[in-house]
Amino acid sequence: MKIVVGITGGIAAYKAVSVVRAFVLAGHSVQVIATDAALRFVGKPTLEAISRNPVYTELYEGVAEVRHVALGQAADLIVVAPATANFLAQLAGGFAPDLLGNTILASRAPVVVAPAMHTEMWQNAATQTNVATLEARGVTIVGPAIGQLTGNDAGPGRMSEPDDIVAAALVVVVASGDLVGRRILVTAGGTREPLDPVRFIGNRSSGKQGVAIALAAAARGASVTLIGANLEVEVPATIAVTHVGTTAELAAAVAAAVPGADAVIMAAAVADYRPETVAAAKIKKELQGDTLKLTLVKNPDILHDVSATKTVGQVVIGFAAETETDPDALLALGRAKIARKGCDFLVVNSVGWTTGFATDGNEVRILNAAGDIVGEASGSKRAVANRILDVLL
Ligand code: C5P
Repeated sequence: MKIVVGITGGIAAYKAVSVVRAFVLAGHSVQVIATDAALRFVGKPTLEAISRNPVYTELYEGVAEVRHVALGQAADLIVVAPATANFLAQLAGGFAPDLLGNTILASRAPVVVAPAMHTEMWQNAATQTNVATLEARGVTIVGPAIGQLTGNDAGPGRMSEPDDIVAAALVVVVASGDLVGRRILVTAGGTREPLDPVRFIGNRSSGKQGVAIALAAAARGASVTLIGANLEVEVPATIAVTHVGTTAELAAAVAAAVPGADAVIMAAAVADYRPETVAAAKIKKELQGDTLKLTLVKNPDILHDVSATKTVGQVVIGFAAETETDPDALLALGRAKIARKGCDFLVVNSVGWTTGFATDGNEVRILNAAGDIVGEASGSKRAVANRILDVLL
């Protein structure tokens, strides 16, 4: 998500650094716009290093790229922390004397402000009227908290803690997301088929792409159910996960969850075969000799079965990870696969020893049922996830 963090001139500006840091660590792209007054309290180099982007202050810089409009248009969320009494008055009045004011007026993104000022200024009738005006316009006000102020005095006016501002801001985005009210089932990871109590046949899928889809869908407001097969990535507690091991367990979990889903996105790498028998005790080489013969039997094709039984309005998206490197041949494989599977969309990507699995980036093409390319994406797995969700929408 692209987040503009506006910083205005108050002592609490030093805490805005933690707000920026938390958004960056959560994987968002942050653009800081500081007022001149804010830069008297916190240094530009600090903000540039923490946000990993240049910090803009000047209205008359970057005019050729129409920066005063472009930043606001590109933003998914604008957070102003700290917001001074003067800034609240400016925003309530619709004034745009600086880059931050222009950016907010030129944006349709949700706006979250975290006021910070002395108690008398916060309780002043002018400030309270301005806050009421902003709330009526849909601006979210976080805080202020009650507590120790800059001097020895205490009372309402202290800026909310950075973590509280970040959490409140993300709730606002989720509530205004384009997937609100949609229930999305995502499978991620790779299934493992046991040979004996300690060994399995598996694949190198880490679950990163599937988890990125679950997180992106949740961030856009969807109610997400994640079925994770041997995930090697952590999933935040905000996502409900059912953990499975084998293809049979995945099939059962999917069958239970599909009826409640508007969309099923099957990113998990599924073992096509499983050992016919699972040894009750560890297989011993002393008893096997120089070769060990395994008989494998075919697993059910979950994607095929879900596609064959899907209800009207349900959208099913499958994945095709192929080692084919020639782009045209890869597409041909994808077209044959979507015809066989019967899903609505197929996300095609190339995998190999060093690409696709367990990496942080991905490059995909998305086919519809007719085999047409309806989307392409490359970059972070989160960016690819969002492109897939755009196609789904
Ligand atoms: O057939 P293949 O494994 O190449 O297809 C990949 C797609 O099919 C993925 O979406 C995967 O989740 C799904 N699949 C499945 N059941 C299988 C094999 C694959 O659902 N037995």
